[in-house]
Amino acid sequence: MKLCVIGTGYVGLVGAAIFADWGNEVVGVDIDENKIKKIKNGEMPIYEPGLSEIVLENIKENRLSFTTSIADGMREAEIVFICVGTPQSDTGAADLSAVWNVAKEIGQHLKDYKVIVTKSTVPVGTNEKVREIIKENLKEKVEFDVASNPEFLREGSSVEDMRNTDRTVVGADTQRAHQVMHKLYDHLGTPIVECDLRSAEMIKYSSNAFLATKISFINEIAQICERAQADVTVVARGMGLDRRIGTAFLNAGIGYGGSCFPKDVAALYKTSTDQAYDFKLLRSVMEVNKLQQVNFVDKVKKHFGSNLTGKTLGCLGLAFKGDTDDIRESVSIEVIRQLRGLGAYIKVYDPQASTNARAVLGDTAIEYCEDEYSVMKGSDALFILTEWKQFKGLDLEKVKSLLKNHVIFDGRNLLDKTDVEKSGFTYYAVGKYTKGLKELQDKKVTHTSAVLKNNGS
Ligand code: UGA
Repeated sequence: MKLCVIGTGYVGLVGAAIFADWGNEVVGVDIDENKIKKIKNGEMPIYEPGLSEIVLENIKENRLSFTTSIADGMREAEIVFICVGTPQSDTGAADLSAVWNVAKEIGQHLKDYKVIVTKSTVPVGTNEKVREIIKENLKEKVEFDVASNPEFLREGSSVEDMRNTDRTVVGADTQRAHQVMHKLYDHLGTPIVECDLRSAEMIKYSSNAFLATKISFINEIAQICERAQADVTVVARGMGLDRRIGTAFLNAGIGYGGSCFPKDVAALYKTSTDQAYDFKLLRSVMEVNKLQQVNFVDKVKKHFGSNLTGKTLGCLGLAFKGDTDDIRESVSIEVIRQLRGLGAYIKVYDPQASTNARAVLGDTAIEYCEDEYSVMKGSDALFILTEWKQFKGLDLEKVKSLLKNHVIFDGRNLLDKTDVEKSGFTYYAVGKYTKGLKELQDKKVTHTSAVLKNNGS
């Protein structure tokens, strides 16, 4: 099939590359000339395992090309995908201006029947408005359909996720549009949820909100485990092996971040209030997520006191999760800001995200190290803030020889508590009992409205 993909961010670029890899002829479009130039040379604008190889291979095979012109990109296409960003606006709702602009341009250049598909995460009702905008901007009478085809890929494993999808969701109002979409996806052999536009839009937000709820749920269980002297990792495994629950997204930690969960949960909450409904559970999900950070930093204050002046803290991880260079809404960055704000000098290492982080954290009282062990040299404590796999395999004897104080704060529960404690460290994880924390655990946590405000609701 001939396809056009507008927007070359995570969803658009990975989508265009994988569609081409399936044998389709794909044109990727982006207004950013510089970005297009770089992609054509195999320089990916994002770090994503396996992506550049697929892009280069498909450019070579003439299945994948790029342009800055929507008119050129969509000319021959049977399907035009809208994959532009929908960032969070001040109200918590998604900012859809890029989607509206693209829809307008599509309308101006539409000359024959195409299915215009929104892959960007957009609130319920958006596709109907896309249809209206296209109609208003048509230069001649031409038939078209709109469809909603949300994407469920995760950063860091997006290539894998798109190849091995659990399901494909397609919302459309006509059989003609559904048939075109079947041609693209039937070969995957996984279920296609064929539905109306609004249900498809809701599926995307509901899925992200449910996953965020799972994380906040296990994070609250973690709080109880700490106090009741149980181990949240064991509890999560024991729960997750029940197939009705599942083990995924039950890793307790310092909270979820990234460009999706915080914004999508806030946007769904906004949709609920717009519909005159107060989604109480979702409000708590956001609040709990913020409190995980607060509780983690509280442990540091409990251990060292609230003034960290003169302390050097070695931190591992800046990205919002492992296997990505993305630092958007990264909890790690927020925790580092707070520790630095308490007077600490920070030494930090991330395998991919240091350059991006430096742009927001600057160079004051912070040193960006070349590897994990340099971070530890002379530090008063070690912090694990992002779940990079390589941090799991730390040589504890080496860590011990480098750190000034044998204290580890593990915000992602990456290390084995028994091993770490046997090696002589004081180990603060999330949802695992640590001796001496009684006082902190007894402390009342106040749920302030500021917490919610920070989450954009
Ligand atoms: C998320 C969804 O998982 C994708 O299905 C969706 O397509 C994507 O948003 C999107 O809407 O575009 P992503 O944000 O890339 O994907 O990352 P996740 O792997 O979901 O992780 C999100 C955050 O949750 C990270 O900060 C991670 O550290 C945290 N997390 C994840 C936990 O704290 N515990 C877990 O058990 C899992």
